[in-house]
Amino acid sequence: MKAVRLKQYGKLVLEDIPVPSFADHQVLVKVGYASICGSDQHIYKGDFHPRTILPMTPGHEFGGTIVEIGRSVNNFKPGDRVTVDPIIWCGDCPACKREHYPACTSLKLLGVDMDGGFAEYVVVDKDKLFKLTPNISDRAAALVELFSIGFHACQRAGIQKDDTVAIWGAGKVGQAILQAVRTITDNTVYMIDILDKRLQIAENNYEDIISINAIHRNPIEVIHELTKGDGVDTTFEAVGHAEDIEDQPNPVQSCILSIRGAGTVCVLGLSSEKSPILTKDLIWREAKIVASRVNHGEFQDVIDHLSSGNLKPDILISKEVSPSQVMEAFQLLENEPENYLKILIKLSD
Ligand SMILES: NC(=O)c1ccc[n+]([C@@H]2O[C@H](COP(=O)([O-])OP(=O)(O)OC[C@H]3O[C@@H](n4cnc5c(N)ncnc54)[C@H](O)[C@@H]3O)[C@@H](O)[C@H]2O)c1
Ligand SMILES: [Zn+2]
Ligand SMILES: [Zn+2]
Repeated sequence: MKAVRLKQYGKLVLEDIPVPSFADHQVLVKVGYASICGSDQHIYKGDFHPRTILPMTPGHEFGGTIVEIGRSVNNFKPGDRVTVDPIIWCGDCPACKREHYPACTSLKLLGVDMDGGFAEYVVVDKDKLFKLTPNISDRAAALVELFSIGFHACQRAGIQKDDTVAIWGAGKVGQAILQAVRTITDNTVYMIDILDKRLQIAENNYEDIISINAIHRNPIEVIHELTKGDGVDTTFEAVGHAEDIEDQPNPVQSCILSIRGAGTVCVLGLSSEKSPILTKDLIWREAKIVASRVNHGEFQDVIDHLSSGNLKPDILISKEVSPSQVMEAFQLLENEPENYLKILIKLSD
């Protein structure tokens, strides 16, 4: 089968390798589309070493069709169209014992710790499969995992109908949060980024979006001006590695300064730099700060919303490539973030 293999860090090669074998509790999925994630860009550069053992096949965002099933698989059959939750938790650590799986101390991911979906076929455990409805396209199937991050963040932040929201970062994660937020509240959403084209994706496709390019305007001042000093109900930090902007605090502190009293800040960005905050700004507001990691049972919600037409997967897709063009795709994502948000790899028809 064809597989896009990471042979050495910085080098992806399209290769012919044997179709993998599977156990009784697993199925073989023929991948339709896979989507390139920011984490794949880090894996490519070697940032996940030693979790990634080379050569390996990346890809944790994908959908496809089941072609073969193991002996103990009852709920799925060949021909079923599915998407895959790539997260594998240990079941044994303190978080897992409390059924708080995203905080598993040895959380593993298909496509990071084992071969993933940048291949014609991939082996998947039966309890990680989710059936798609016929009206969900193969392209959209590759974005279910990304959307699940947005839905999980909304759940962690406790977003309510009519809430006002500010999202720092209009990248992949920020856009997924926005789409999830819009299934709950129609009220004003402030989108903050430093790339106009990313802000325009939100602005052009949703009502009542106020986009702020943080290089040109101070988002905290804009939010305070437009909410008459109140601040918003909830802020999300989906930046991670942040560009420094003169006279502005980092995105986490900006989130704290932009919420109302008793509001909520939800942080998702995985920066390796520190984000200093002033705790009294949090305490005066008696505000809540929560973290959100991956997803926890949101796949079915996403599928239901996609099926009902409540989400807009196509506005996130900038380009589709063949498996032989994956190296170029990684370079485009790295060098031109203003022009490329999600790039999909078409692995089969
Ligand atoms: N918690 C989770 O479950 C989870 C899941 C996936 C990714 N992540 C992390 O979330 C972060 C965002 O991921 P992504 O894929 O959307 O990345 P991305 O690069 O697509 O988006 C980040 C955005 O932040 C913008 N930005 C940079 N500096 C800024 C600043 N000072 N103010 C405002 N905006 C600024 C960038 O222009 C970019 O559009 C990363 O750190 C990633 O590792 C977390
Ligand atoms: Zn991802
Ligand atoms: Zn665990």
